[in-house]
Amino acid sequence: MNHFHIVKHPLIKHKLSIMRNKDTGPKEFRELLNEITLLLTYEATRNLQTLEIDVETPIEKTKGEVVEDKKIAIVPILRAGLGMLDGVLSLVPNASVGFLGVFRDPDTLKPIEYYEKFPEFGDDHQIFILDPMLATGHSMVHAIKEVKKHGGKNIIVMCLIAAPEGVKVVESENDDVEIYAAALDKKLNDKAYIIPGLGDAGDRLFRTK
Ligand code: URA
Repeated sequence: MNHFHIVKHPLIKHKLSIMRNKDTGPKEFRELLNEITLLLTYEATRNLQTLEIDVETPIEKTKGEVVEDKKIAIVPILRAGLGMLDGVLSLVPNASVGFLGVFRDPDTLKPIEYYEKFPEFGDDHQIFILDPMLATGHSMVHAIKEVKKHGGKNIIVMCLIAAPEGVKVVESENDDVEIYAAALDKKLNDKAYIIPGLGDAGDRLFRTK
């Protein structure tokens, strides 16, 4: 699991523990997911290239560095990935955003795509694919395949909670993808929910159950 990074921070542990609590309502759940995403983004963007620029301070001319955030693309997997979008966008506001709608067939657990709208991905684009729960990994593998089909080369997966099964599936099919998560949980149950996890992230974000 050398491409798998858990972002360890007391604030992340604290916020995630509140999210896991079944009594935490959608407002707080959304706010916490947004806050944790900010912290994950800080870490997942650590190796972004910067461009040297000239800056004139009130005192003198100097050099500065800027991130080319027009070369960043974000792909939230609908629908739970939407809960992480604003967190990434607030740190890289000029990023392009693509959308991929995928649901799990309840019987086969395989991903079924129902929507796709991507920007152009250049060779030098850094692409962040978002999904809070990396469970079986099938949706994520599908998303990575689609992003690569559209020219995406540099891909980072960001999730809140990963299951070992999902990490293994993503890594075994993509040795060029980095994964950032706030936690690695025990395993999946027989319905492919993460244990202990936090339940269905989409339902908790959007109060659909
Ligand atoms: N998707 C979720 O929302 N929760 C899980 O535990 C697994 C997949």
